[in-house]
Amino acid sequence: MQRCKWMETTSVSELEHELKELVEKHRPDGQTGEVANYIPALSKANPKHMAASLCLLTGEQVQAGDVDERFTLQSMSKVITLAMALMECGEACVFEKVGMEPTGDPFNSIMKLEIMRPNKPLNPMINAGAIAVTSLLPGTVEEKVERILSFVRRLAGNTAIGFNEAVYRSEQETADLNRALAYFMKQYDVLEGDVEEVLDIYFKQCAIEVNCQDVARIGAVFANRGRDPETGEAIMPEQIAKICKTFMVTCGMYNASGEFAIRVGIPAKSGVSGGIMGAVPHCMGIGIYSPALDDKGNSVAGVRLLESLSATWGLSIF
Ligand code: DON
Repeated sequence: MQRCKWMETTSVSELEHELKELVEKHRPDGQTGEVANYIPALSKANPKHMAASLCLLTGEQVQAGDVDERFTLQSMSKVITLAMALMECGEACVFEKVGMEPTGDPFNSIMKLEIMRPNKPLNPMINAGAIAVTSLLPGTVEEKVERILSFVRRLAGNTAIGFNEAVYRSEQETADLNRALAYFMKQYDVLEGDVEEVLDIYFKQCAIEVNCQDVARIGAVFANRGRDPETGEAIMPEQIAKICKTFMVTCGMYNASGEFAIRVGIPAKSGVSGGIMGAVPHCMGIGIYSPALDDKGNSVAGVRLLESLSATWGLSIF
């Protein structure tokens, strides 16, 4: 496959050099943010860490910074379970339970759930929507957890990916707000089945542990219209990759999605671990890690790095 047009004249070593410079330029930006602490285990992350990885659709990989650091998927997993639910239940079944609109509210807000009619979550990227999507996956708890993990491994091309037990347990013990969202949805028939079981699967998908390279590789599948960037094999239908990228644009950075679309213009999904997954259509997947967050739950240095990358290489889709 050819390089995307923005990069065809730049060699991999030049890309690596530019990426290294930008990571070091933006590393101090994390100082203005704070590591997530509402899930106690996440507060142990070092706010000085920063890493970035690009997975070009040519198969070339470029990395810079603390590339060995591992972190959990958190909300980045929401795109992955959405793709699975769309494949396993179909569009009609998924959109009967969750909407397609941005909220303009924080990721864990309950407000719109209560005031909207019907009382279904506005989109699958907020916590309520993602919990509802997870509840749609067929099978027993163990089967669902196993299938989510296998799908993440398949997308990342890395069979060594597993769970971070400490992060899983920490969220399980403290997730009162997510419990409130889930029980509310159970009352209004958005959630079926056992609420605690659904939450357990959701906490586990959030606690899947990856590095930047894994995240970039997952982003590359979405960028590559659902196909494996190395083999070209279809992992998901093109239409599903398209729906996921569209939600990444409209809701992937929560109530900062509009500003992010203007300043960066790359379909992206953040997680409170400080990870960001980007998918530049027909070009590359991007994985970023820097754990200090802004007040909307997005990595401060990660967003600024993406803004610089987009400006330097002309990556905005708009
Ligand atoms: O449910 C939660 O609150 C976390 N497991 C995930 C939230 C998240 O990553 C929001 N992202 N910025």
